[in-house]
Parts: sequence; C-alpha cells; structure tokens
Amino acid sequence: MPATDTRAGYSKKSWDAVASRMRGKQLSSHPILATLYAEHRYMGTLLKLLESQVDSLEQDEAVDPQVLYESLHYMTHFPDAFHHPREDLVYARAGELDYALADSVDTLQRDHDYLSKLGPKALDAAAHWEETGQGADKLQKTVRDYVTTMYKHMEVEEALVFPEIERVLSDEDWAELEREDLMSPVPDPVFGPRVEREYRNLARKARRALRRGAEDAALVEWIGLEAMLEGFEVLAIAGENSRAAAAQHLNEAGGEAMDLVRDALGGRGIFTLPFRCTLVGASHYISFLKDLGGIAIDSSADLGELRRGVRQRLGLVFDPQADQATSSSRN
Ligand SMILES: [Fe+2]
Ligand SMILES: [Fe+2]
Repeated sequence: MPATDTRAGYSKKSWDAVASRMRGKQLSSHPILATLYAEHRYMGTLLKLLESQVDSLEQDEAVDPQVLYESLHYMTHFPDAFHHPREDLVYARAGELDYALADSVDTLQRDHDYLSKLGPKALDAAAHWEETGQGADKLQKTVRDYVTTMYKHMEVEEALVFPEIERVLSDEDWAELEREDLMSPVPDPVFGPRVEREYRNLARKARRALRRGAEDAALVEWIGLEAMLEGFEVLAIAGENSRAAAAQHLNEAGGEAMDLVRDALGGRGIFTLPFRCTLVGASHYISFLKDLGGIAIDSSADLGELRRGVRQRLGLVFDPQADQATSSSRN
C-alpha cells in the first residue's frame, strides 16, 4: 500500500482545488521548488488524460491505447527518473533540519518507492492489453491505483509539505542543493520546448485536452510555467559556463605563474617576479571578463528566443487553426 491513504475517496477534484488555489500566485522564489510545482502541473495534465482513458475502459467506450501507453511511459521515465529523486534530495535536507517534518517527508519518500514499482507494472499491463486485448481488469486496477496515489501524493506535497520546506530551508541550503548533479535542468520531453519524437502524439493530445478543458487564464499560466522552466535552464547553463571559464583561467594563470617562479628560482628575473605574476593575473582576468560577456550575449539571445516561443505558443492557444497548420507541417 502507498504511504498516503488512497482509500479516502480521493479524486482529481481535490488536486484541482489545490492547483486552482495556487493559480496566479508565485509558486516559489527558489528555482528547485518552483520547478517541482511546475512539474506537478504537467503531471496533473497527463493524469487527467490517463483517468479519462480508464473511465472509458471501465464503461466499454473507445480507448486511445497510444495515449494510455505514452502517458504511462512518460510518468515512469521522467517523474520517476528526475522529479521524485530530486524531491528525495530536498526532503532529506529538510528532514535533517526539522524533526517534525522528518515524518512527513519519510511518508512521501515511501510513496516514491511505491510509485516507482507501480508505474512499470501499469506500463507493462498497458503494453500487454494493447498487444493481446487481454488483461483489461488488471490494467484498470493498476492505472486507477497509480493515478489516485499520484493525485493524493501531489496534494500532500503542495498543501502540507512544500510550504514547510520553504520555511525550513535557508538560501544556503538551496544553493548547496542546486550544486547536486541531479538538480541540473533536464528539458521535459513532452511539455518542454522540444517535444521528443516518441511523445509527439501525446504532446499534441495533452495540449488539445488542456485547451478544451481549461479557462484561458489557466492556459496562459501553463505556458508561463513552461517559459519559467526554460528560463531556469538558460540561466543554469550560463552559470555552469561561467564557472567553467573561471576555473579554466584560474588554472592557466596558476600554471603560467608557476613557470615564472621556476624561471626566477633558476636565477632569471627574480626582482620582476611579483610584477610579472600580477600581469599574468590581470591578463587572465580581462580574458575571463570577455568570456563572461560572450556568455551573457548567448544567454540573452536564448532568452529572446524563449520570449518569441512564448508569444508563438500564446498565439497557438488563442488561434487553434495555427496549431493544425503546425501539426500538419510536422507530419
Ligand atoms: Fe513526490
Ligand atoms: Fe512531487
């Protein structure tokens, strides 16, 4: 059984209530937490698609096997691989700092373990049903359990645990977490700027479902979340490039200074050594500033591209014909 109680008749309604309470608010000023909130919106969109497929299966109505399989494939390959492990890192830090919070995060980490086993079972059941037409009961039961557990889990995280984490973790804690390899931005293969080939069908259907079911304000917020995540990615890459450039110049300057010291020990230019070492440092500092300028220009171009992408996506939302034109040109 999952650690959170799914027998309480939990449905997407409760998750919708939490998500709509948060709508329009700044989700978090910390990129890691803001990313986790945004990924919940993506997962919520696919869970609704999954739930509608299971409803159809139970009522003997037409089911879209591709949507069923691809949604489960995404859930088991993206949230299970990145979202939950990142949360585990944040939870471990929060649990160390706050004893009362340790219990709640332990429960959520057990949910992650449960979901990481349940997701592949649901994916296997979907593949088996698609290939053989057999095992519909098992498929319904497994997917229903997965969807219900995920809704409940995300609700507990957003309603109870994320606000406490924001209270407990300091800026230094967040900065330390950001340095973890696991926290490096990974573009979302369905909701990111570049939809992966295997998810193109799912991405189109998710956007259409969202367009049909949501108010304009919710859609604009959803596009804003996409843009925010992409912006984090651009800035993280810029930060990484700056660190690499600084390390490279420091390394080279150190090597050149050591050559000068060796020359001086050999009796060449001992009196001018401090002056020449200072010149080496200054020249590398100027080169580093030039590199930083180049990085800033690249990042600014990427952010400009991002703004154009957001305008285009907003255009697609409010002009569905443009989407059809884009889809048919892709196919
Ligand atoms: Fe989680
Ligand atoms: Fe989560």
